[in-house]
Amino acid sequence: MPTMTATAQAFSNLAFIKYWGNIDETLRLAASGSISMNLGGLFTRTTVTFQPDLTADSVTVDGQVMSGSGLERVSHHLDYVRKLAGVQSRAIVESANNFPTGAGIASSASAFAALSLAATAALGLHLSELELSSLARLGSGSASRSVPGGFVEWIAGSTHETSFAQTFAPADYWALTDLVAIVSRAHKRTGSTEGHALAGTSVLQTARLQSAPERLARCKDALLRRDFAALAEVVELDSNIMHAVMMTSIPPLFYWQPETLAVMEAVREWRSEGIEVFYTIDAGPNVHCLCAPGHEQAVHERLTAQAGVIDILKATPGGPARVEPSVMQN
Ligand code: DP6
Repeated sequence: MPTMTATAQAFSNLAFIKYWGNIDETLRLAASGSISMNLGGLFTRTTVTFQPDLTADSVTVDGQVMSGSGLERVSHHLDYVRKLAGVQSRAIVESANNFPTGAGIASSASAFAALSLAATAALGLHLSELELSSLARLGSGSASRSVPGGFVEWIAGSTHETSFAQTFAPADYWALTDLVAIVSRAHKRTGSTEGHALAGTSVLQTARLQSAPERLARCKDALLRRDFAALAEVVELDSNIMHAVMMTSIPPLFYWQPETLAVMEAVREWRSEGIEVFYTIDAGPNVHCLCAPGHEQAVHERLTAQAGVIDILKATPGGPARVEPSVMQN
């Protein structure tokens, strides 16, 4: 049997309306829909090589050999792909991020999107984009959104097949810029998988889920109309609500640091001065600052002068996950 190998690349993504909490932890069926933008330029590139003579999967990320729960998570994901293809072969997985891991950029999103695409391509499976999105979701919920390109909606659904993400506007629809204000490089104490499982312990989660459809509709409408002020309002609100749930879960999760709050306040201040920028924050202390076209330089200058900001990453809307043609086989 020939060696079956493929390489794929996927961008990370940033949620405007957040995913926090599942109705099924194993299948990662989100309790509500979410909306995101792919982060062009911030990607994971993964090569998967299935070899019949291997006795176990091996995984390296940025040159580091993985073991324990990290390895198990990848191996478990490959089991889904092996089952789909009806093969037993173990694989060598080599993955690299072009952005610093632990910088508060969701590496699991780009990682599981690239892994799903590379593994299925290596085994000659031709999944539709929706099927690939559902598959990626099993590895990491947000990875479902890194499969399609541009501005994306994850339809929460209620089964494996009905929970997937799809593009609602292409990457070139609106030239927003994400300037990520890094205030800490420390690894987060509670990962998102653990966090999702705690969401239901907050009394605020019911209210959050109940009001989510309205925020999803407002966000999508603002994006499609390119209405920056309306988008700013709903995205900041959704981020604040998710963090309120996090802070009131049992045990509570506090992801913000003093510098996080300082950047949030500064962003609101700059907006009141006429600079088109808003913030959103994931499960970490770093602040994503979204800038309207023509405003990124002013925001970059201010972030550079902002106390506590140790680095700034930049991304603009990115395309879908793709197989690299040079090594494509089958
Ligand atoms: C706060 O997709 O990282 O970034 O499914 O356990 O891998 P797992 O969780 P993950 O959760 C993302 C949480 C978030 C919000 C979001 O991206 O929607």
